[in-house]
Amino acid sequence: MKTVIITGGTKGLGKAIAKVFALHNYNLVLTYLHDEKSALQTKKELEHFNGEIVLVKSDVSDEQKVIKLLDNIKCQFESIDVLINNAGIAIDTTLEDKTVDNFKTILNTNLIGPFLTSKYIGQFMFKQGFGKIINISSTNSIDTYYQESLDYDASKAGLNSLTLNFANIYAPIINVNAVACGWINTEMNKNMAHEFKDKEISKILLNRFAEPSEIANVVYFLATDEASYINGSIIRVDGGVRR
Ligand SMILES: NC(=O)c1ccc[n+]([C@@H]2O[C@H](COP(=O)([O-])OP(=O)(O)OC[C@H]3O[C@@H](n4cnc5c(N)ncnc54)[C@H](OP(=O)(O)O)[C@@H]3O)[C@@H](O)[C@H]2O)c1
Repeated sequence: MKTVIITGGTKGLGKAIAKVFALHNYNLVLTYLHDEKSALQTKKELEHFNGEIVLVKSDVSDEQKVIKLLDNIKCQFESIDVLINNAGIAIDTTLEDKTVDNFKTILNTNLIGPFLTSKYIGQFMFKQGFGKIINISSTNSIDTYYQESLDYDASKAGLNSLTLNFANIYAPIINVNAVACGWINTEMNKNMAHEFKDKEISKILLNRFAEPSEIANVVYFLATDEASYINGSIIRVDGGVRR
């Protein structure tokens, strides 16, 4: 049975990704930061599938914890087939209220985290002789900018760079790709003002935000043999931009 590691796999997009992999009989290793209740709820909802589910409370930006995570998974499962760097945060504020501390917190989770997992778990996969890495990026990394999220936007642009660099480093053993998502209906956007949401929806050809499952299906596809020739790509999934 194959094993997937999904950082931030206990809610939002990560949970939807976990569900698709569960449907395809994967063992799931789902990390989270604080919210144990959501983690346990996700485990409960996915328990009836065939694979094992391991919840790990672990900060993805903590090097020792990433090393420990890898050590534990190596003991528990025969292989690590897919790594999905999904954990991500945004702290939207006016430019005036942006602080260096918040900027660093965002970079730690959104960029240093994927660097650490891609380094340690990626090296393990490389030695193992197979594996896939999929990074969850954003259209904010390419051509969509907001001063309220300039730190987040920069972190995701960095993640695209990491994607291309690790694709080079691990070629031809590991395919490394990113999915650059547009707006998704998740908790990350729960406090969004209605007027802002309506304005954003008016820019999308499909006239709505994505459901998490619509992104999760693309992520799963990238992990399949059918996607074997997709490598070093940033794949945009945003419902189409009205121009
Ligand atoms: N929502 C959107 O519109 C949108 C658009 C484009 C891209 N994305 C990207 O999609 C990904 C998932 O976003 P989402 O909307 O599903 O977010 P979410 O609902 O807020 O879930 C984030 C998950 O990441 C975990 N997490 C946060 N910081 C962590 C850390 N340092 N270490 C380990 N886990 C951590 C959270 O754990 P806790 O529950 O314990 O806090 C939670 O499980 C992110 O990378 C985000 O940037 C989202």
